[in-house]
Amino acid sequence: MVERRPLIAGNWKMNFDHLRSIAFVQKLAWTLKDAKYSAGQVEVAVFPPFTDIRSVQTTIESDRMEFAFGAQDLSPHDSGAHTGDISGEFLAKLGCTYVIVGHSERRMDHHEDDELVAAKTRAALLHGLVPVVCVGETTEDREAHGASAVPVAQLRVVLESIAKDSDIVVAYEPVWAIGSGQAATPKEAQEVCSALREEIAAVMGNDAAERTRVLYGGSVKSQNIASFMREADVDGALVGGASLDVDEFSRIVQFPKHIIA
Ligand code: PGA
Repeated sequence: MVERRPLIAGNWKMNFDHLRSIAFVQKLAWTLKDAKYSAGQVEVAVFPPFTDIRSVQTTIESDRMEFAFGAQDLSPHDSGAHTGDISGEFLAKLGCTYVIVGHSERRMDHHEDDELVAAKTRAALLHGLVPVVCVGETTEDREAHGASAVPVAQLRVVLESIAKDSDIVVAYEPVWAIGSGQAATPKEAQEVCSALREEIAAVMGNDAAERTRVLYGGSVKSQNIASFMREADVDGALVGGASLDVDEFSRIVQFPKHIIA
């Protein structure tokens, strides 16, 4: 059986200018060092706005911090006449490991559909970035089709358009749980994360399903992270609001202490 290293990912959304981003990662590094954090046990990644990425990169690299970082979006195109867009190639040059695609806020604010999310996933893979593919149902979807149907269908469109050996991360984020303070229960998260893993197995094979990390996101906090991480198919969390508070985010990263206790 493949060991999947837990990933705690902080999605800053449109928060922190580049100066604040530097102060944040420095404080995060000190706090986790004090807590004897080891990246071997839990991987930490931050997702700053585009304008912060260069500052975050130089801070992390010059102090040899054990954090990964990524962007919150990318263009499906490689270059050219696409005013305001950012290419995966540029993100790769900045040392990004990851890029979020298909976050529900982009699906809503920018009318991104499953085909565009699939195209962005392919663009990320083309440039050597690991896409964090976000899927999730609204309250209406859940009432009409149950919890898993929409997230599984969203993921299928992406999976069917990429190579079977692609390295991706999947994030299950029920739309009703994002920023609402009302997280899914661990059982609800497990049910959908397991359905997503079955879909990965069906489209990409068992090896891909075994190695691909599936995260839960939506009102994750230090008080509930351990209960999600106890579930067999939850391999980490995509954290929004709680990732903006260094102490709270550090406590989330240290969830193994609560699981062992
Ligand atoms: P939240 O956001 O933790 O503030 O609910 C999660 C996300 O949107 O990724």
